[in-house]
Amino acid sequence: MYKILKKEILSQDIEKMVIEAPYIAKKCQPGQFVMVMVEEGGERIPLTIADYDRSENSVTIIYQIVGYTTKLLSQKLEGQTISSIAGPLGQPAHMKKVKRVLGIGGGVGAAPLYPQIKKLTEMGASCDAVIGSRTEEMMILQEEFKEIAENIYFATNDGSKGKKGFVTDVLKDLISQGKKYDEVIAIGPLVMMKSVVEYTKELNIPTSVSLNPIMIDGTGMCGGCRVTIGKETKFACVDGPDFDGFLVDFEELMRRQTMYMPEEAEHRCRLGI
Ligand code: FES
Repeated sequence: MYKILKKEILSQDIEKMVIEAPYIAKKCQPGQFVMVMVEEGGERIPLTIADYDRSENSVTIIYQIVGYTTKLLSQKLEGQTISSIAGPLGQPAHMKKVKRVLGIGGGVGAAPLYPQIKKLTEMGASCDAVIGSRTEEMMILQEEFKEIAENIYFATNDGSKGKKGFVTDVLKDLISQGKKYDEVIAIGPLVMMKSVVEYTKELNIPTSVSLNPIMIDGTGMCGGCRVTIGKETKFACVDGPDFDGFLVDFEELMRRQTMYMPEEAEHRCRLGI
């Protein structure tokens, strides 16, 4: 059993939990994830490690309440326990020693971006960050990014914070203002990562993305998280989740992501969520 040390509501449907998990806290690296089972015998869901504290033996997860299991998780309170957390899983993000990095986080994608930018800053890189969301209320980790990023920029669909538009609009503005980056890290909805990569590819700025395909076991056995990277089949849970964005077959991944939508909608309808 894993104790919830702290719980915080970050926005309307995004929450943060700090969980006591000594083994994972000791070993995990930015880019890795955990499989969380809220109740014994329940569904296991992958969640990226948003932060960790080795001295406190804790890991932080940030999740959006989108279905049955995340709703169940959100009903848990500080001091209560979670049945199982397996990890750290996946490969740590490839942290190269670079000088100038731009991190782009869309929606809840800002959460897995945070430990990567934090680590790169510790490694001496100068990091800018672009955080995007539908509205200002839905934006997460603004203060946390302000502490580690050299410059921080915002984009919202309704213009309530920063640029009215998408994170890619901010990216294009920065480049047209003469900003130069050795690497871009983009994490967020597939369509966002795809459009970032389409632009950075034209400019030949190496870009890494974090993929979130359907995962079942998280250990390379079910094949659910299959993705095509540079014409090779990879499993996001053991080979990723971070990949070279230039090589990702986004079209295929977007098709696979919608495969179970009718079943998920029916399930949500049955449960009234
Ligand atoms: Fe099963 Fe990756 S989640 S192979």
